[in-house]
Amino acid sequence: MFKKCISVSLSLFLLFSSMLAKANDQEMKRIVDQVSKMYISSMVFLFKHQWLINQKGGDKSELFSEPFINNIKRVYEEKYQEDFPKSDHIAKKMLLQSMIEVMEDNRPILTDADIGFKGIIPATFASQLGRKLAIKGIGLKIKFTRMNEGIRNKANIPDAWESAMIQKIIKVPKIYYDANAVVDGKAVYRQFTPLPMKPYCLKCHGTMADNPLNEGKDRSQWTNIDMTGFEMENWKITDFGGGVSILMEKSSLQ
Ligand code: HEC
Repeated sequence: MFKKCISVSLSLFLLFSSMLAKANDQEMKRIVDQVSKMYISSMVFLFKHQWLINQKGGDKSELFSEPFINNIKRVYEEKYQEDFPKSDHIAKKMLLQSMIEVMEDNRPILTDADIGFKGIIPATFASQLGRKLAIKGIGLKIKFTRMNEGIRNKANIPDAWESAMIQKIIKVPKIYYDANAVVDGKAVYRQFTPLPMKPYCLKCHGTMADNPLNEGKDRSQWTNIDMTGFEMENWKITDFGGGVSILMEKSSLQ
């Protein structure tokens, strides 16, 4: 009788723990999904507002603090047809705060009256944001990445899991998750969202013929250095574009 009692409570305990783990995974998925959409929305906003970023002088207030976040909210709600997430978890709060900080760091160049092309493009913003988040100590990491060959910024090199997801995406493009990953000895939740290749990506990553700096020039004068100062990689429109990789430590839910 006593033995039976123990075994019943043990199985109840196991059932309860596995239900709890499942609920935690679902909560994790919800937060990570929202974080990735917030991040992608900020990149879309920066892409669509290159004209404002690169404008020489004038009113740039839409690129800083609250107005900047409100712009990202508008992009998010339009793109995903759902309300912008509440800041009910430290990851989301810190993400928004870091976005504001990155733009503040770039204020001198963004408000410069003489420089035309400021180089504050979505990929630069993404890597600065990723670096800022990594040092916040909240167990959230975001990376804009692609396969190893010809990577521009070494900090964006994919790890083994990301490389495996890229290979899967090339076959079946969709969002991939791993609820049971371990990185640096810590239980983490991972997500990889593909970002499709677009014709304008080739202006920087394509061939010399795609480079706007070569427009109207004789072939002998062409350069394979893009407008951001990087060597072009000769990507084609059918190549894999890139993806947003998010890692969140499970302990951040406790
Ligand atoms: C104006 C030039 C420009 C355009 C247009 C551009 N990129 Fe980039 N891209 C860059 C630069 C510069 C970096 C390096 C940013 C960094 O991390 O500092 C980069 C980095 C990346 C990375 C991270 C991996 C790496 O090599 O560091 C990916 C993935 C990427 N770009 C994909 C794309 C895709 C997909 C598009 C189109 C949707 C695109 N880029 C459009 C200039 C550009």
